[in-house]
Amino acid sequence: MERLDKVLSNIGYGSRKEIKSMVKDGKVKVDGKVVKDSSISVDPEKNEIYVGEEKVSYRKYIYLMMNKPTDVVSATFDNYDKTVIDLLEEKYTVFEPFPVGRLDKDTVGFLLLTNDGELNHRLISPKWHVDKLYYARIDKDVDEEDIRAFKEGIVLDDGYKCLPAVLEVICSSENGAEVHVTLQEGKFHQVKRMFQSLDKTVVYLKRVAFGPLTLDESLEEGQYRELREDELNSLKEDAGIDLN
Ligand code: URA
Repeated sequence: MERLDKVLSNIGYGSRKEIKSMVKDGKVKVDGKVVKDSSISVDPEKNEIYVGEEKVSYRKYIYLMMNKPTDVVSATFDNYDKTVIDLLEEKYTVFEPFPVGRLDKDTVGFLLLTNDGELNHRLISPKWHVDKLYYARIDKDVDEEDIRAFKEGIVLDDGYKCLPAVLEVICSSENGAEVHVTLQEGKFHQVKRMFQSLDKTVVYLKRVAFGPLTLDESLEEGQYRELREDELNSLKEDAGIDLN
């Protein structure tokens, strides 16, 4: 059981003060009856709550797919830069979401935001083998030898040996290359450092898929949307979470 004003403010119906006055004005019904006291206890999963004509659908977690733009950081707070959380509407920030893993400030593409700690943990742990697919442009040509090196496990500048990764060449010439890289881990600057160890530079990086989900191409950079139920279920399945 939780206070009615807390339940409603947590899901974005306004501040507690605003909710208090809404309730006083007779706009909120619990199990068919108008209530006048916003401090009453309710069970949001059992009681039927209406605000005006709208049935309140209570939920604990939110899951957002964002097409991250450049120049924002994948953090919940930053002293200097705008964060991905700053891009969200208040109806989502009230859930206190955080980014699942990080994309560099200059990397764009699929960023998942949620307040579901268990799913976050599984999605970023290499133990659950969740693939992250990147599209990258490289300053030099990329060849069979590079593909082999990725497959064998690239050794980074700090001596860390990466898990085997899949490198696919979309096109390549002496002017540069376009590639896809599939990783199951997410070390700091990993894709860039993998190419650096081959003496090549990533000049553009976009994450295009996360586990079974592909970035919704209708999302412009900076836009986001909630995951659909089927998308969330497939993501959970991929992360080894029992849906029952
Ligand atoms: N690898 C990188 O180098 N940067 C990212 O943002 C993600 C993966």
